[in-house]
Amino acid sequence: MDKNFIFITNWKMKLNFDEEINFVTSNYDAFIQLSETNNSKIVLCPSFISIYPLIQMFKETNIEIGAQDCSKHNKGAFTGQIPAQSLSLLGCKYCIIGHSERRKENHETNYDITQKFIQLTSYKISPILCIGESLEEFEKGKAINVLTNQLQEITQKINSDLKISYYLPVYIAYEPIWSIGTGKIPTLDHLETIFSWLFNQTQKISNSTNWKLLYGGSVNNENIKNIKKVQNLDGFLVGGASLDFQEFKKMVKS
Ligand code: PGA
Repeated sequence: MDKNFIFITNWKMKLNFDEEINFVTSNYDAFIQLSETNNSKIVLCPSFISIYPLIQMFKETNIEIGAQDCSKHNKGAFTGQIPAQSLSLLGCKYCIIGHSERRKENHETNYDITQKFIQLTSYKISPILCIGESLEEFEKGKAINVLTNQLQEITQKINSDLKISYYLPVYIAYEPIWSIGTGKIPTLDHLETIFSWLFNQTQKISNSTNWKLLYGGSVNNENIKNIKKVQNLDGFLVGGASLDFQEFKKMVKS
């Protein structure tokens, strides 16, 4: 039987509210059919404002909804922020954190991202933790050093007092920055090295955590067949290609 992959879509801020709702409405039956006729799981991560309408629209279907970020704080005077608790109350089961665009644009540090990780796990939302190296770091052969560094604070937290139920999948998305939105994909050799390292590393951090490993960065219908061959890969974080429904459908079905 084919392996069951998870497809998490990151719509970023590419569509406005009307466009997000229209995209879902015009492909609604096809989305549901895709999630029913395939072994793969589909999670849509729209902008904050579309989360609640999408949760209502996909109630009692296999499609799940996630957020693209959350506050590192639980509650308080933090104007404009969205707490994990509210996401949980809406029925949101997944949340992307540490995306390279947020690390860059919003100057998020590994400390901030660790706080978000703690918030999410405490409200039983699966974190989708993005990690990845820049082109310069990749070219200098530093990818694993960068990933180690990005995982360090969360590792320390899990080793000290953070308890995560095995029933809560925790996603690590390897997204080389140089691959995001560029059409450039790492070689299979590089991906095999990274995912075998990540698999061993996550087991070392905690073998009682339900880790899931994702690849993200320019995934499309052409290159996905090859990437699916990589050992220890559980799914994909898809940006641009997830907003073309026919392309996305081919990716899920390939
Ligand atoms: P991309 O984006 O698929 O458009 O490269 C992936 C991401 O940023 O998560």
